[in-house]
Amino acid sequence: MEYQQLAPFPQDFLWGSASAAYQIEGAYQEAGKGQSVWDQFVRIPGKTFKATNGDVAVDHYHRYQEDVALMARAGLKAYRFSISWPRVLPTGRGTVNEEGLAFYDRLIDELIANQIEPIVTIYHWDLPQALQDEYGGWESRQIIPDFTAYAALLFERFGDRVRHWVTLNEQNIFITHGYLTAEHPPAVMDAKRTYQANHMANLANASVIKLFHEKGYQGGNGPSFAYSPTYALDADPVNQIAADDAEQLNANLWLDIYAWGRYPKLILNYWAREGLLPDITAADQALLQDPLARPDFMGLNYYQTTTVTANPLVGGVGLTKQNTSGKKGTSQASGVPGLFKTSDNPYMQQTDWDWNIDPEGLRMALRRIESRYNLPVLITENGLGAYDRLEGAGEVHDEYRIVFLKAHIQAIQEAITDGVTVIGYTTWSFTDLLSWTNGYQKRYGFVYVDRDETDEKELNRYPKDSFYWYQRVIRSNGQQL
Ligand code: NOJ
Repeated sequence: MEYQQLAPFPQDFLWGSASAAYQIEGAYQEAGKGQSVWDQFVRIPGKTFKATNGDVAVDHYHRYQEDVALMARAGLKAYRFSISWPRVLPTGRGTVNEEGLAFYDRLIDELIANQIEPIVTIYHWDLPQALQDEYGGWESRQIIPDFTAYAALLFERFGDRVRHWVTLNEQNIFITHGYLTAEHPPAVMDAKRTYQANHMANLANASVIKLFHEKGYQGGNGPSFAYSPTYALDADPVNQIAADDAEQLNANLWLDIYAWGRYPKLILNYWAREGLLPDITAADQALLQDPLARPDFMGLNYYQTTTVTANPLVGGVGLTKQNTSGKKGTSQASGVPGLFKTSDNPYMQQTDWDWNIDPEGLRMALRRIESRYNLPVLITENGLGAYDRLEGAGEVHDEYRIVFLKAHIQAIQEAITDGVTVIGYTTWSFTDLLSWTNGYQKRYGFVYVDRDETDEKELNRYPKDSFYWYQRVIRSNGQQL
């Protein structure tokens, strides 16, 4: 439905941008910080583009004041960042690194002094290496009390100033990339272990949200989910079933647990058939279904949609992996049998990294979350990764990013008009940053950072055209796009 008149954005709408510790901070072994699994993974030859790492990243650890000043200039109302677990607990548990906590104290205070609301992600993939070595990280039950103790430390220390907490960033990505496709640490390829690790992450997530509610902290807590809604390529019923399978396996499997504490029946059946059932105890079920473990909002990371057809060649339910790292061709889940396979969508253009551009998909994701789970949504990521060019006296003319974001903001407004509760929008990203395995060539920011894979240069910051555009959007509360 096309509206003649759209509902306005709420007055307290959280216009912002987002980042993650490993992608921006640098200072990877400074001031008592321990090593994370990413600090080691990037050193394995062939894992990242031109062997790039986050040792220095964009040096936000030392330049956070300059970055916050730029955020204030853009008029951001909120800034989502993550805390590096090994920076505050170098071996994952036990001894606290006060210097690490002090960095985040300074950052939070700087944001608040500039009227920017901090949104804190507790876990954005940089697991302490010590926990991986000691007991296999996410595969062990020990991760549940350790993650809970780490979160409790953050709530105690920052809970007086932080109102919105994101528990786990893109559990569906760090688990499937870590255990199914081996693109991220610990680089395992094993479906059974994937769902076991995923179950532990579900329990860790529930345990933290429960604790937050039990202790009565102010504000809200929720996970961020990488949602890529699925279309069937056409109205052929077998393709529609394939799309439903994909939606079960790529979305409901995670979202149902977050919202309702239970796995979809079709998934349990598939796991039983394939010998993939995780070890689910009665105590696990009680924790997952505890009303105190229900999130206060659903964090949504939206980049693109997936289109599928039935896969006539193989039986069983497969998994379409989101194309989060490579270009097309590396986007298929390798070696996983499936009833569905991904397909190009003739209605969509692609980004420089061959991701489908689909603003309507964002509206659809928002509608599905609202109608199925009845939870407010915080859009924790959305943005365009592109090759940007620094020109003349430090200008970047990124009209393509403006066009992209404009269309997505319009889609949000349509979803709000449809009746979805959306509390904020933190674009990915504020400054350019390390794109995990893609180095620094894939840029998302409103602020260009002058460095590339091999040359750190001066790391100077240059606002792009999109920076000034977003400033106007925020000033007008989304009226001037
Ligand atoms: C999802 C992740 O949360 C973020 O870390 C990543 O860089 C962006 N999407 C872009 O792929």
